[in-house]
Amino acid sequence: MSIEKIALQMLASGKGILAADESTGTMTKRLDSVKISSTEKNRLGFREALFTSKKVGTYISGVILYDETLRQKSSRGSSIPELLNKQNILPGIKVDAGTKPLISSPDELITEGLSGLQERLKEYYQLGARFTKWRGVYKISKNFPSTAAIMENAIALAKYAKLVQDANMVPIVEPEVLMDGAHDINKCFDATSSVLQECFHQLEIAGVNLKGIVLKPNMILNGSESGITNETSEVAAKTLKCLTHNVPKEVPGIAFLSGGQSELDATKNLNEINKINDTKFVFTFSYGRALQQSALKKWAQNIEDTESAQAVFDQRAWMNSLAAMGKWDSNKEVTI
Ligand code: 13P
Repeated sequence: MSIEKIALQMLASGKGILAADESTGTMTKRLDSVKISSTEKNRLGFREALFTSKKVGTYISGVILYDETLRQKSSRGSSIPELLNKQNILPGIKVDAGTKPLISSPDELITEGLSGLQERLKEYYQLGARFTKWRGVYKISKNFPSTAAIMENAIALAKYAKLVQDANMVPIVEPEVLMDGAHDINKCFDATSSVLQECFHQLEIAGVNLKGIVLKPNMILNGSESGITNETSEVAAKTLKCLTHNVPKEVPGIAFLSGGQSELDATKNLNEINKINDTKFVFTFSYGRALQQSALKKWAQNIEDTESAQAVFDQRAWMNSLAAMGKWDSNKEVTI
């Protein structure tokens, strides 16, 4: 399948992406938070529960995996990519190697992972991956994001995206402007605009086919320590404005990260964006925490009882599927 077709399949109407690509360190923190020990078996156990829920194939078009999971065998004996393919879900893989301090501005971050990437991509394709993810991380403060952080992360994202397309996979380009901080929503708007402009500048220089990428940005929000409550209508209007001004029209779609928003806020905001969307962009979700949090809590109550955790996950995925079509309403929210 061409990369342009894969991108469209990832963005199919009423579907979104499950980000289950937490590194072992991050997954250990998530499991610690619900008092489950982070063994290889438990990491797979929770993830396999999500990947085999009744409705996963109805609401989820692709799953981003971590290297460990891509290589694991499911309890049914098949590989994880085979398990996903059976449900018409595209397997994806996180290929960045995490962040390090940026040399020229050590309180900011640069994402690593370009060295040896071409060879790893070949192997990931053979293992069944059809799309990939790389996350650049940007902090907001009085002087951040700096020009250096904006430039260097954009260059890395562009080099990554080109290598991935050359390996016949779709790159998810994820520049995440963090919500940490006391800044207001306008500062987030300005920082995200600068970040996106430089990303698309570098993608163009690198010769990336914009019809064969999926953009994964943050929404435009007040900083989490600002004390300001995010109004759904303002978040949606400013997010739509920022993206329509800074994302070239060739890009087929945008799958947001949740970035630490509550499950409900992530759903509500996506729904509102779709309600007011007057553009050709598809807006959907590529959530990690906002799809998994409640399901993880339920699973931790009894890890043998996968059905209960799956029911919680299916409900959350359904809410986000509706939000991806602008059809969510609060009456459909039920606690399982
Ligand atoms: P969150 O939705 O939890 O922010 O995770 C999405 C993701 O893939 C971060 O890289």
